[in-house]
Amino acid sequence: MLSDIQQRILTLKKEKDVCILAHSYTTPDILEIADFTGDSFGLAKQAAKSGHENIMMVGVRFMAETCKILSPEKRVYLPEPDAGCPMAEQLDLGSLERLRERYPDHTVVCYINTTAELKTLCDVCVTSSSAVQIIERINNDRILFIPDCNLGDYVSKKIPEKEFSFISGGCPIHRRLTKSDVLAAKMAHPDALLLVHPECRPDVCAEADYVGSTTGIMKFAEESDAREFIVGTENAIMQHLSLAHPDKRFYPLSKETICPNMKLNTLLSILRCLEGTDGEEIVLSDEIMEKARKCIDEMLRLGG
Ligand code: 13P
Ligand code: SF4
Repeated sequence: MLSDIQQRILTLKKEKDVCILAHSYTTPDILEIADFTGDSFGLAKQAAKSGHENIMMVGVRFMAETCKILSPEKRVYLPEPDAGCPMAEQLDLGSLERLRERYPDHTVVCYINTTAELKTLCDVCVTSSSAVQIIERINNDRILFIPDCNLGDYVSKKIPEKEFSFISGGCPIHRRLTKSDVLAAKMAHPDALLLVHPECRPDVCAEADYVGSTTGIMKFAEESDAREFIVGTENAIMQHLSLAHPDKRFYPLSKETICPNMKLNTLLSILRCLEGTDGEEIVLSDEIMEKARKCIDEMLRLGG
C-alpha cells in the first residue's frame, strides 16, 4: 500500500504534468512512484520520448542535464541540487582540449557520466549498457575513452581490433571493490554467481560471471536459473532484486557500495520539488545544449 507522501506525490505529479524518471540506484519507495525506472541509457531514451510538459530526474545531475538536452522545450528538475556524480567532474574543458590536441586522429568517446559542458567537446557519448555496441559501430579504429578507465578497459577487451587510449578517471564507489572482496564473498557464498558493473576494476570484472549495466545485472539475475548471486554495484540493486525475487538470495560484494549522491534523493525531496519549495530547474545555455546534443544524438543513433 502506498504511504501518504507517495499518494501526495502521485496527485501533484498528475496535476503538474510531471514525468518522474528514477535511476535504479534510488530506493524502492521512490521506484514505486516513478513513471520510468532503469539505467542511464534507458532513462535517456524515455526522456527523449516523454509526452509530459515537465520531467523530474531522480538521480544525479548529469542525468538531469541529459534529459534537458534531449527535451530543451521541457522544464527539467533535479529534486536534490547537491546530487552530483564525482566522476562527471573529473575532467575539465581545458584538459580535454589538451587531450584532443594530443590525440588528433582519435574519436573522443565520453561516458554519459560527464557534464553537459564536457560533452560539447566529445564526438560520441555512451552508457555502460551501450558502450560496446556503439564503439564497435564507430568508423574509426582509434578511440580516446573518457573518463572511466575501468569501463574503457572492459570495452577495449570486447573490441580488441580497436586501439584505445584512456585517462585515469572512474567511479570512487565502484573502484573501492577489490579482488579481496571477491575472494571473501566467494568463500562465504561458493554457489553464488558474481554480477558486477563495468565501473569495477579489471581484476574484479575478470572474476565475474556477468558484467553489465544496472538494468543488465537485474535482467541477468531475473532470467538466470541460479538461486544465489553476489552483486558488485550500488547496493540498491541488491535491495530491488531481493524484493522482486524472494525465492533467490542476493549478497553484496561489499556492504559499503553505497553512492551517497544517489542516496540524497528521498520521497521528501521529490515532494518539496513538486511543491516548488526545493529542487532545481536545470538551465543550460543554447550553445551548450546544441553542441552537447550532437554527441548524445550520436549515442542514440548508434545505440539504437
Ligand atoms: P548505469 O549506466 O548502469 O545506469 O550506471 C550509471 C552509474 O552511475 C553507475 O554507477
Ligand atoms: Fe557516479 Fe559512481 Fe554514484 Fe554512479 S555510483 S552516480 S558513477 S559516483
